[in-house]
Formats: sequence, C-alpha cells, structure tokens
Amino acid sequence: MTQPKKLFIKTYGCQMNVYDSERMAEALGGNGYVEVGSPDEADMILLNTCHIREKAAEKVYSELGRFKGLKSEKPDLKIGVAGCVAQAEGEEIMRRQPMVDLVVGPQSYHRLPEMEAKAGAEKVIDTDFPEEDKFEKLKSRPKAKRGPTAFLTVQEGCDKFCAFCVVPYTRGAEVSRPVERVLAEARDLVDRGVREITLLGQNVNAYHGAGPDGGDWSLARLIRELAEIDDLARIRFTTSHPNDMDDDLIAAHGDCEKLMPYLHLPVQSGSDKILKRMNRSHDRDSYLRLIERIRTARPDILISGDFIVGFPEETDEDFRDTMRLIEEVNYGQAFSFKYSTRPGTPAAERSQVPEDVKSDRLQELQALITRQQRAVQDAMVGREVGVLIERPGRMPGQMVGKSDHLHAVHIQCDLAPGSLARVRIVESGPNSLGGELL
Ligand code: 5AD
Ligand code: SF4
Repeated sequence: MTQPKKLFIKTYGCQMNVYDSERMAEALGGNGYVEVGSPDEADMILLNTCHIREKAAEKVYSELGRFKGLKSEKPDLKIGVAGCVAQAEGEEIMRRQPMVDLVVGPQSYHRLPEMEAKAGAEKVIDTDFPEEDKFEKLKSRPKAKRGPTAFLTVQEGCDKFCAFCVVPYTRGAEVSRPVERVLAEARDLVDRGVREITLLGQNVNAYHGAGPDGGDWSLARLIRELAEIDDLARIRFTTSHPNDMDDDLIAAHGDCEKLMPYLHLPVQSGSDKILKRMNRSHDRDSYLRLIERIRTARPDILISGDFIVGFPEETDEDFRDTMRLIEEVNYGQAFSFKYSTRPGTPAAERSQVPEDVKSDRLQELQALITRQQRAVQDAMVGREVGVLIERPGRMPGQMVGKSDHLHAVHIQCDLAPGSLARVRIVESGPNSLGGELL
C-alpha cells in the first residue's frame, strides 16, 4: 500500500474559511492526502487566508518565509495559498515568494485536485469566478464519523458594498446554494453524527436559494425545513445584515425550537452620520427597533455584534453614539476592530482617524463589551439550559459543551460527545460556565 501523503492546512479568518478548509482537505483526500497537525511533517502546506483587515497579505508573506527552510530540506514539498489573499494578490504571491507552487481563490477550489497534481512541475494559479457550482463539483463528503457540530455554507458573497469592506471584491456577488443541495448535505452530516449545524454565509440572512418547487426560499423557510431532520437537534446561522432580517426569520426565533437563541447581528457603529458614510443602509433607530422585535419573539436571545471604531471622519461624538447604542442593546458577545484601510474600497480615500485615537476608542469599547458579556454570562447562574456535549474537559470526569446561548459549559458527567443534556448553571467563570446535570 502506498503511504498517504500529508497535508497541513492553516486557516485564518472567519468560519467560512474553516468550512472551506474542511472541504479542501476532503477534496485533496481524493489525491491521497490525510491531514496532519504540523507543517514539519507535511508533503503539502496550504494557507487558507483572510483579507478582511490590513497587513493580512504581509502576515501571509512572513508565514511563507518561515517555510523556506522546510522547502529547501524537502524540495518536493508543495506550498499553496488559498482564500481571499490568494484572490486579491493572485500572481503577485508567486512573484514575491517563488517557492509557492499553487494559488487558488475561494471560488475555484473545487479544481484543487487537478491543480495539486500539476503543482511542483509547474506553477498553478486559479482565481476565477467560474459559473459551475464548486460545492457540486467537489466529491461528496466522505462517510467518516464527525464531531457533534458542523458548519454548512449556504450562501456566499455580498452585494452590500459597505464602504470599508473587501468581501464584495474578494468573494464576489451574492450566490445562494439550492435548497435540495443544502438539505442533502445536512442529512449527510447528521448521518455521520452531527447534532448541530451552523449555516454560514457572508450575508446568510439574504439567502434566497432555488427551492424544489421552483421558487426562491428564504433562510427562515430553509431553517424550518432543516428542523424536520429528526436527529438534527440545533440550528444556528451567521453572519446577518440588519436589513435582511425579515418577519419570518424573526418569527422563527420564537417558534422554531431547534433554532438556538443566539443572533450575530453586526451594527458596526451607533452614529447615523457614520452609518451613512459606511453605506450600511440602516440607521441606529431601525437597528434598535429590530433588536426589540427580535427580543419580543425570543426574550432570552443573546445578541452578538461587530463594531468598527475610527472609521474615517468618526468624531468623539460619533463614538459616544456607538457607546450609547451598546448600552441600550446590552450585548452578550461582540467583536470589535480598529478601522483598517483596504485599498480599493471607498473609505480608503477618506480622511483617516489617528491611530492613537482608534486605539483609545477600541479599548474603551472593549471594556464596556467585556462588562456586558460577563454580566450576561453571570445572569445564567441558576438557570436551566440545554448543553450539547462536545469533548472531555481538562479536569478528570469533566465534559465540555456549548449551551443554547453558545456559552462554554463544564459539567462533571460521563455523557458522550453528541449528547444533549439539561443542565443547571451553578457558576460563572472568566470564560465559561459551570453546570450540573438535571
Ligand atoms: N476594518 C476594520 N474592520 C473591518 N471589518 C470588515 N472590514 C473592516 C475594515 N476594513 C469588520 C466588520 C465586519 C467584520 C467581519 O470585520 O466589523 O463585520
Ligand atoms: Fe462586508 Fe458589509 Fe457585505 Fe458584511 S454586509 S460582507 S461588512 S460589505
């Protein structure tokens, strides 16, 4: 028997990249590769990159620099760059790092097996936006057993063109996968042990996939159909745009038991002036009203968000508006970033906020979010929640899982991964909760 070849994939960025990395590993499985945990033993190294903030490309080049030694020890080692930096930089990557054998964009990685076969003998590059559906072209997922949670990409790309964001350029226009294909992939995942699926898309709630009946299905309709899969216990989705939260999706949070009470709904800023300049096409008030409607449908929902501080022309007053919005919403989780100039995007041309001002604002905003996050977590103590057991914890006899609200929960128990437990939360620590089986 021939020895399997070893593949090391390093994934940067969002959950969609995590999903893409899994699919790329599966596709390369057909070429005889198995995944390994370190670059030192690999026959092929693939960096699945992210371009959302500055210095992304620089980070990739310096990471590649670290592989130089490996490549000179092992000339057959294949090195590939995938993802959004590959899309944005293209051939430039091979010019700057000639040891790179393969460059593949996020829309063409179904061609990876053929590309891998040629790589080494020649330089291969593919950053097309092909017509064919890459997910269909990929080999169906192998029937190996899986852990209890999985990502499933249902939508890609974005037509919103927020003034700071590269996604519409690197991932292209919005495309939704047809309903039947999503359902088939979900059933397959469930057959292999998955109990919780997180539907992914850059703009997932803009989903409008072709249904078996010929019509366009909304995300809510897709979720309701997925909820019919018996052994699928939990459904989540991310990331959403406020303008695409339609009535049915809001209602689903109230009446679809399998849809978990957690919603990532980025607002970016609390200042109407900045939101306008960001081209967000919602304002502070419409966002707050939307949160209210969602909380009416599902009172205990945990709201999570994204914030950018120091967007061009953001004044102290604008920043105060953002802080006030955070106070009003009370977030259970949030991701926050200093504005980072992305060449080619409209905001890159505007008057920039000094770096030290951005840093001060970020620190202040993160301190507030951390307080809110902790308070939301502490308020879980005494409550009964569902926990999906994922893996053993660090202590003997301990298992760790995620609550309905996506908090990590430690429990003394001998339940197997994939079990759903009813748990009373008894303590709240810095990063996780402690619970007891009911
Ligand atoms: N600078 C800073 N943050 C950004 N994001 C997207 N583009 C930029 C940028 N140029 C943030 C947004 C988005 C998240 C995925 O990344 O908050 O919601
Ligand atoms: Fe980027 Fe805005 Fe699209 Fe989100 S909605 S991916 S921030 S352009």
